[in-house]
Amino acid sequence: MPLIRIEDDARIYSAEDGETVLLALRRHRITLPSSCEAGECGTCKVQLLAGEVHELDYDPWALEPEVRVRGIVLACRATVWSDIEIRRLRGLEPQRVLGARVLEWDAGPLQLHLALEAGELAPGDVERSVTVEGAQTGCLYARIVAVDGRHVCCVLQLAGLVSVTRPQPGDVVVLRLPG
Ligand code: FES
Repeated sequence: MPLIRIEDDARIYSAEDGETVLLALRRHRITLPSSCEAGECGTCKVQLLAGEVHELDYDPWALEPEVRVRGIVLACRATVWSDIEIRRLRGLEPQRVLGARVLEWDAGPLQLHLALEAGELAPGDVERSVTVEGAQTGCLYARIVAVDGRHVCCVLQLAGLVSVTRPQPGDVVVLRLPG
């Protein structure tokens, strides 16, 4: 039975063979941040400090290759077959939160057009993964495809559309980007 250690936690948590880190820890009432639980959003990132995991398929938008090489894995996609040690990341990794308003939702190419109301995006933010959250909009996972001044165009990821209502013009949302 594989064992999971968490840095800065004296206890050791058992997992079933092939269980994901997220679900194994949840059985022990250890809650890691998570959202889609399908490898689509990147909310559940942890750092693998020791041991190896087998990773189920995930969207590279949720875990970019340059982040993966630092030993970061998705807890909802990382299955354990032998002992590992992880480090929690949420709260340690800086995040940027930008205020925005929905201008238009184009269901054809799944594009969401937003007007930034607070914060700035740089040209280097194009192609980055972002979470779009709003009281009416729910939580959407998207990729920034264009920034023109305060206008932002995002392409939504399909998995993010399952449990949300359609974004409506005027909805107030926040964009969350990794720092
Ligand atoms: S919870 Fe979304 S990628 Fe793991």
